[in-house]
Formats: sequence, C-alpha cells, structure tokens
Amino acid sequence: MRKHIVAGNWKMNNDLAQTQALISDLKKQKQTSSAEVMIAPAFTNLWSAFESLRQNSIEVVAQNMHFAANGAYTGEVSAAMLKSIGVSTVILGHSERRAYFNETDELLAKKVDAALANDMRVIFCFGEELADRKSGAQEQVVESQIKNALFHLDASAFEQIVLAYEPVWAIGTGETASPEQAQDMHAFIRKTLNDTYGSAVADEVSILYGGSVKPDNAKEIFSKPDVDGGLIGGASLKAEDFFAIVNAF
Ligand code: G3H
Repeated sequence: MRKHIVAGNWKMNNDLAQTQALISDLKKQKQTSSAEVMIAPAFTNLWSAFESLRQNSIEVVAQNMHFAANGAYTGEVSAAMLKSIGVSTVILGHSERRAYFNETDELLAKKVDAALANDMRVIFCFGEELADRKSGAQEQVVESQIKNALFHLDASAFEQIVLAYEPVWAIGTGETASPEQAQDMHAFIRKTLNDTYGSAVADEVSILYGGSVKPDNAKEIFSKPDVDGGLIGGASLKAEDFFAIVNAF
C-alpha cells in the first residue's frame, strides 16, 4: 500500500510572523484522511516551524539544499544543516529552481546523492513545459528528467524517494492537468520505474501530482489509481484550503 502524501510548498511566501500564524491555523484543522502532511516554509522559518510542530504529525520539509557538505558556497544551505534543525525531507528539482536558478538534471543528481547520503527523504520534482505537451513530447521529457537525475541509484534508494509530477504549464496558472492527463503520466512514470527497477520499486514509490490543485479538484485527481498525493503551492497558503485537499483522500 503506497503512502498518500500531501505537501504544501509555500515557496517564497510568509515571513516569520505569517509562518507562525499559518501554522497556528493549520493546528486548528481536523484531519480525516490518513495522508502524510508536510509543509515547506522558507529556510528562515524552518526552525521555528519545526519547533511549533514538534507535537504534531505535520512534517516540516525544505524547499531546496546544496549538494556540498560545507564550504565556500555563499548563500547556500547543506543537508547536514537541515538535519541539524530536524528537517529530514527536501524538495529537489522544482521547475522554478530549474527555470530561474539553472538547475540541471546533472546538478540535481548530485543534490539527490547528497540528500540520500545524509539519510534524507527527497521529493523529486519534474514535468514538461507547455511546448513539450503541445508537441506530444511530454513522456520523452519526463523520462529523461527522471532517468538523468535518479537512475544511477540502487533500487533500495527509492525507499527514500517521492516523485512529484508537475507539468510546468499547470503551476500557478489555474490550469490543472485533467485527472486523466495526470493518471496517464503517473502510469507512464510507474512503467518507466518498472522497466528498470521492477515492480518492487515501481509499486512502492509514491507519485504526487502538482499544478493548480485546489479544494474543488483534489478529490477527482486523487481518485486516480497512480496519483498518490499532491504537491500544493497556492492553495497551501490557507489552512482551510490546504486541509480540504489533505482530506480529499
Ligand atoms: O510546488 C507546488 C507547485 O509548484 C504547484 O503550485 O499549486 O500554485 O500551482 P500551484
């Protein structure tokens, strides 16, 4: 039975006071599903968020990290630094990191290795752009993103990997992939895993969908057999909306 996961990626939103206010609202929500719930505040607010949620099942995760253990990388944060404040899961490969910070598959492979070497769980994001979808190249693009960044790993490493399919054209646009488009891609991703690693890996890895998931479309998307949860941007910034999505399972 694969884990259901709903993760809120707060991106570069919420200062310290706003983070604390949103966490306080989150704590008032009632969870009726058994999904694992995560939030990813900005680096500056991770420690405070972790402290506030110590007695809570909501996991605090990071939005990014550097691959090096330490050293002269001004402005960066390492896996060990995250671990030292209780953060054990990191989002890597988000399309905004790829687009605005030039993160390539090769760089992401190094980040994945560094996270795993530090016993962290990785939520690995990937997805095609609109032009890829229009030209019918979406599967080819997604396959190469996954293979380039992850397929050097041993099968056992996938116990620490969660995949997040996020078509770039659906992120923050209000245009969601249809439940069928999400299901088709997730099934393709699972087949790609199966072809290289076999069913033991393919059947166990949770694959999240991200891209304009809202309270009113979450249930239908999550009802698809290969969709194991969501990576939620905009709708994770309001506690009621986020928990409506968490409870859509
Ligand atoms: O990481 C989350 C995704 O980028 C989705 O963002 O829900 O605002 O479209 P969105």
